[in-house]
Amino acid sequence: MSSSETEKYVYIDALGSREGQPITLKGWVTFRRDSKGIVFLGLRDGSGFAQTVVTQDQVSEETFALASELALENSVVVHGVVVRNERMNEMEVAVSGLELIQAGPEYPISRKAHGVEFLMDQRHLWLRSQKQWAMMRLRNRIVFAIHRFFQERGFLQLDPPIFTGNAVEGTTTLFETDFYGEPAYLSQSGQLYGEALALAHGKIYTFGPTFRAEKSKTRRHLSEFWMIEPEMAFYDLDRNMDLIEDFIVFVTQDVLEGCAKELAILERNLAPLQNVQKPFPRVTYEDAVSIIRGEKEVDGRNSLAVMQQDLDELKQQIAENTADIARREEAIATGSLKKGEINFNRSRIDQLIATNKELEEKTGNIPQWLESARNFPRGEDFGGSDETVLTRLFDRPVMVYRWPAAIKAFYMKRDPEHPEYVKGVDLLAPEGYGEIVGGAEREDNLDLLLHRIEEHKLPVEAFQWYLDLRRYGSVPHAGFGLGLERLVTWMAGTRHIREAIPFPRAYGRLRP
Ligand code: 4AD
Ligand code: MG
Repeated sequence: MSSSETEKYVYIDALGSREGQPITLKGWVTFRRDSKGIVFLGLRDGSGFAQTVVTQDQVSEETFALASELALENSVVVHGVVVRNERMNEMEVAVSGLELIQAGPEYPISRKAHGVEFLMDQRHLWLRSQKQWAMMRLRNRIVFAIHRFFQERGFLQLDPPIFTGNAVEGTTTLFETDFYGEPAYLSQSGQLYGEALALAHGKIYTFGPTFRAEKSKTRRHLSEFWMIEPEMAFYDLDRNMDLIEDFIVFVTQDVLEGCAKELAILERNLAPLQNVQKPFPRVTYEDAVSIIRGEKEVDGRNSLAVMQQDLDELKQQIAENTADIARREEAIATGSLKKGEINFNRSRIDQLIATNKELEEKTGNIPQWLESARNFPRGEDFGGSDETVLTRLFDRPVMVYRWPAAIKAFYMKRDPEHPEYVKGVDLLAPEGYGEIVGGAEREDNLDLLLHRIEEHKLPVEAFQWYLDLRRYGSVPHAGFGLGLERLVTWMAGTRHIREAIPFPRAYGRLRP
């Protein structure tokens, strides 16, 4: 094909500047709607989604016949002219010609509602649908923003190994593999290598896949997830927290600026993201426990009382929806409505039923959350619901720091003024998204670190190289880890983490 011919091919995301021009698109059919003498074809081409219109008296008989036969996900070439659809305020294409690339059997994913397990089995195809498309674009934007943030601040991205000889975050979640006859573990975290790299380069970040055998199905856990782990020489816990704050604000702002379209497709409520501004509240673990147990108020508000109020509001909303459903059903039953009105009411009823199902799930959970929050055992790690109760009182992410040493990793530095506690920090996202960052200042004293390794019953031999970092020019240093998929899930406002990665790996999910 000559270059002058290839030039007229455009992508859907460039239609805005082509009004009135003849163009050619290549893509896939997303819907077909027939009416008299006209076929509306949805088209996607990777860059976006557009409507194309085939009018019988403006195209050849063959073209109209082909248009009338096209089915979901058939691949096609579309020739036409770009016109503005005033009503939708969008560009569409008035079709002059169509070529079929490939048709194939009926597409397994239809426009009707499918169960998530079915969609997950079809993940390789599901990725084509609009919300999943938006989700992946959001992920891509976030990855780019992360690199930009660190690169602009003089950090080097350096990659730790994935086959490792030692545990970082405790031994229970390790995936063991066979490395030429020797046991090896898939990396749970690049941190220990990151520390070595930080002592060589000052400020580094690792960004790679990490693996955890989490033998339960939750909406926050994957077995394979991507982690960003900055590590900085000469940083203490406070500077670490400052960096976490700057980082999260930067990425959130970038998403708001660059992903307006994607967030709209995902129906994301933007207010909680717009609230992500400095400073983030910094709460010690002990204060956080008091807030969770309802013993300490925040700005005169009590966590348990606020959750109880949420519960009452949810119940009221369910009651209102139920009454609305009944009214609409009554109206339909009178037999006096037109067909269009009946359809409208039916689809509204379906929506209300679906909404109520979601609301009921929430109301079902809250009483248990309240119960376990009230009785939270001081000294233990937070569960997902405790994090939800705690963050409910704040309008932005919350940093919980100074954790009991007993529930945190061996490498965290003790707080010299509070020796029972370590200089660790978790960042909890609002809206019930829970922990998205875990970090700490590191133990930099050789003897203390050796002692911790023994206390945690870890094999000292495997850590000799790591101990060298404390033998030769040890310095205070700190870092943190952000779970990419947790961040994407929160930014997207999606319930479950499995949609935040192209091909999730989780307990019970290895394929496709
Ligand atoms: O809190 P974690 O376990 O911290 C570490 O791994 C440290 N070595 C990081 C560091 O200081 N360099 O994990 C860090 C983050 C969590 O806050 C969470 O966002 C994510 O990693 N994460 C998971 N994401 C998805 N699925 C899982 N199973 C995850 N486990 C942790
Ligand atoms: Mg953690």
